[in-house]
Amino acid sequence: MSTAEVARSAARLRQAWGARQPQVAVLLGSGWAGMVDGLLDAVDVPYAELPAFPPLGIAGHAGCVRLARLPGTTRSLDVMVLMGRQHAYETGDATAMRGAVQTVAALGCTILVLTNAAGSLHGDWPTGSLMLLSDHLNLVQRSPLQGLGGSDRFVDMGQAYDLDLRRRAVQAAAAESAVMHEGVYAWMMGPQFETPAEIRMLQRLGADAVGMSTVPETIAARCAGLRVLAISLMTNMAAGLAAQRLSHKQTLRAAADHKQQAAAVLLAVLHSLVD
Ligand code: HPA
Repeated sequence: MSTAEVARSAARLRQAWGARQPQVAVLLGSGWAGMVDGLLDAVDVPYAELPAFPPLGIAGHAGCVRLARLPGTTRSLDVMVLMGRQHAYETGDATAMRGAVQTVAALGCTILVLTNAAGSLHGDWPTGSLMLLSDHLNLVQRSPLQGLGGSDRFVDMGQAYDLDLRRRAVQAAAAESAVMHEGVYAWMMGPQFETPAEIRMLQRLGADAVGMSTVPETIAARCAGLRVLAISLMTNMAAGLAAQRLSHKQTLRAAADHKQQAAAVLLAVLHSLVD
């Protein structure tokens, strides 16, 4: 995706939005889509009309960008919701979401909230647990910045996940009586799940959760100057940690089971990010 495609995508969204200006963008992963039900005054633009955005693989589930207002705000608090992501495992391309992330920044948003489904590496963080990413392991060793020139691509990753946003999110979750863990997310390429030996390796490396997304988006966002908050919903115990067989169906079922709680916490967190 080129700079011109990002500019055209931003222009198309501005045209749809008029004077509305969100500060926060949120990318919804598996299990998180329920939060859109609570939003008001929605304006949708399909990814297909945004040249910097990826086509989405699953037939009948074209992605779209929804601008909408968070409920319960006295003043209008608009959020930009990215409904759907392309994963690196679909094409082998870690740059899949770079154009979308750059468009978020081009539109003047300053915060990107990333959500995902993940496998838990902790015996005491069962399915349904929530974890803020405090850091990540890019074990895939691929970058969404490949192909870029200039010095901006040598981006500092010392505090990829914004400390102030994390503090706000923990407080917001507590106010919802939800426990928000914090930990390290390991990115594995997939689409196959891990072996039990791989999970033991990840535990030794200091990972708390494992998943197949988010890390390339975080890197692209940091390069674009966005502050990042990322939240995992544990949809299973990682391979070898429970008797259950892992499957996409099981991930989606667990995500559906915890959808309401995830949506309530996410709405509260979004509220808390903007003063
Ligand atoms: N491994 C990788 N990705 C995942 C998992 C997992 O166990 N669960 C949900 N996404």
